[in-house]
Amino acid sequence: MGARWFESVAEAERRARRRLPPDVYRALVAGSQRGLTLADNRRAFDEIGLVPRILDVPSTQDLERAVLGTPSALPVVLSPVGVQAVHPEGEVAVARAAAARGLVVGLSSFASRPVEEVTAAGAPVWFQVYWSGSRADLAARIDRARRAGVAGLVLTLDWSFDVGRDWGSPFIPERLDARALVRLAPGVLARPRWAWSFARAGGPPNLRVPNMARPGEAAPTFFAAYREWQETPPPTRDDLVWLRAAYPGPLLVKGVYRASDARVLADLGVNAVSVSNHGGNNLDGTPSPLRVLGEVVAAVGERVEVYLDGGVRRGSDVAKALALGAHGVLVGRAYLYGLAAAGTPGVTNVIDLLASGLRATLRGLGHASIDQLGPSDLRVPPGFSGAAQP
Ligand SMILES: Cc1cc2nc3c(=O)[nH]c(=O)nc-3n(C[C@H](O)[C@H](O)[C@H](O)COP(=O)(O)O)c2cc1C
Repeated sequence: MGARWFESVAEAERRARRRLPPDVYRALVAGSQRGLTLADNRRAFDEIGLVPRILDVPSTQDLERAVLGTPSALPVVLSPVGVQAVHPEGEVAVARAAAARGLVVGLSSFASRPVEEVTAAGAPVWFQVYWSGSRADLAARIDRARRAGVAGLVLTLDWSFDVGRDWGSPFIPERLDARALVRLAPGVLARPRWAWSFARAGGPPNLRVPNMARPGEAAPTFFAAYREWQETPPPTRDDLVWLRAAYPGPLLVKGVYRASDARVLADLGVNAVSVSNHGGNNLDGTPSPLRVLGEVVAAVGERVEVYLDGGVRRGSDVAKALALGAHGVLVGRAYLYGLAAAGTPGVTNVIDLLASGLRATLRGLGHASIDQLGPSDLRVPPGFSGAAQP
């Protein structure tokens, strides 16, 4: 193990904090409003206990599980996130780690790297879209991703355009002009290793989103793309029917909370849903997805793959989500911290921690495979899920 190896995601986060300019670090931690949901996403995992077995414990543990038909070394998918300024290689660095460890990587349409470069890194890629622009724009975006060889599509619906953070939002400039540079300079100069890594790679982050470029046009800035998305009415059910027909491959809808929404999506023919609150970045006060997972699994788990998405930081978190019925989990910040700390090796380090933690949890629970995880492995406190809403 090299000197840069870290033993927990918490340590990766500390290193990310030391390495990144404060505005970049705060953009990564994000969260909305009072941060209630951000905190609950983690707290819910802490409330659930594990019940060990010590007799007849198998000596090996099988962690593999296909995700939307793609083999995966773990029931873990690297969730799509825009990582504009975290690392010069951005999403390509993440995809290399996913390829090295046999995982699927999600790619945000607001990512800093073109989909073609990311699929070329060798990992199966799920391309993520927001409902932004016209159907023709979406069709062009999806067609480009298909030609680049993506293995699936993610439609993210849990965003309502208001973050209003009590602790203040980071300064993210539309362009890195002289005024922006002056404002960012103190934070950047205090993080010379980060600044040097970008200088060596050719200059500061350009804050453009190449996967949102219209055919034959230059990539728009992040903010131009964001404004277009904001101005686009949310999709109707007809739009979703259209999308299902336009993309016949594996389709996951991200952001589901209600069993009723999940049933409609299953009826429309989506292949998976993720129970997600955008990592605590959407409606503050939304409980952790772990608290509602069981309801969604009960409603549609026989028909579609249900993923838990939010708050996963260790292998035992993965085990808890699976024991409550998740097919797999999506992770965001955990690997972003690894990326910020050490690039591709930092992301593989995080994946390895999730794998070793999951293996140890299975062993502690007396299981040979993730397929054996179930509610009897857990102590779930009364009132954990609250009252079910229709
Ligand atoms: C900085 C940041 C950027 C994100 N960008 C996107 C995005 O572009 N598209 C998307 O579908 N989800 C995005 N997400 C949500 C993640 O995909 C994922 O659902 C979330 O991070 C899971 O919570 P976790 O960070 O606690 O694992 C973002 C999350 C963060 C923290």
